[in-house]
Amino acid sequence: MDDPIPTTLKGLVDAETSCRRCPLYRDATQVVPGEGPRRARMLLVGEQPGDQEDRQGRPFVGPAGRVLDRALAEAGIDRQTVFVTNAVKHFKFEQRGKRRLHKKPNAHEIERCHWWLDIEKAIVRPPVIVALGATAARSLMGRPVTLAKLRGAPVAAPDGSRVVVTIHPSYLLRIRAAEDKAREYAGFLADLKLGARLLADAA
Ligand code: URA
Repeated sequence: MDDPIPTTLKGLVDAETSCRRCPLYRDATQVVPGEGPRRARMLLVGEQPGDQEDRQGRPFVGPAGRVLDRALAEAGIDRQTVFVTNAVKHFKFEQRGKRRLHKKPNAHEIERCHWWLDIEKAIVRPPVIVALGATAARSLMGRPVTLAKLRGAPVAAPDGSRVVVTIHPSYLLRIRAAEDKAREYAGFLADLKLGARLLADAA
């Protein structure tokens, strides 16, 4: 049977720390819980912690986090006011020599970790949720999705929450051509600004 459902962020972190819902806890350094104010009005959901996040125990503190921070600032969103989390709370990787290479979480891991995301949503109750990338969108929508089809306007998740779907910031880090990068970044910014506008409307 599942343990009692936490009703506070502190209780949630304690429960996540001993999570054994899927095997990813075995190789990760630690769980990376979501962080931000309990009454945050925006929930930002990434895929899973990366190498830096796994070491530091905090979401979006590595290279993708720096892209996210810049875009949030440009969109007029103060990161301190946002609850930042991931669809999957442990780092999944493949060891190659000294390097730990990111591996995409599978459907089972996303589904098992959805338990924690649901609890975060129940505690924070944000009027606006932003899905960063396909894994986050899949977790929030409860099905595999095509990002391009869901971008540009808010979509309703099965539980009725309002979700803005956008790309993952690490995608921007992988684009080589400056022109393509600039275009994709502009689209990312536009999606975040849409989230900011929805927040203003919900005020
Ligand atoms: N990528 C994510 O999806 N989440 C993080 O926390 C860091 C990188």
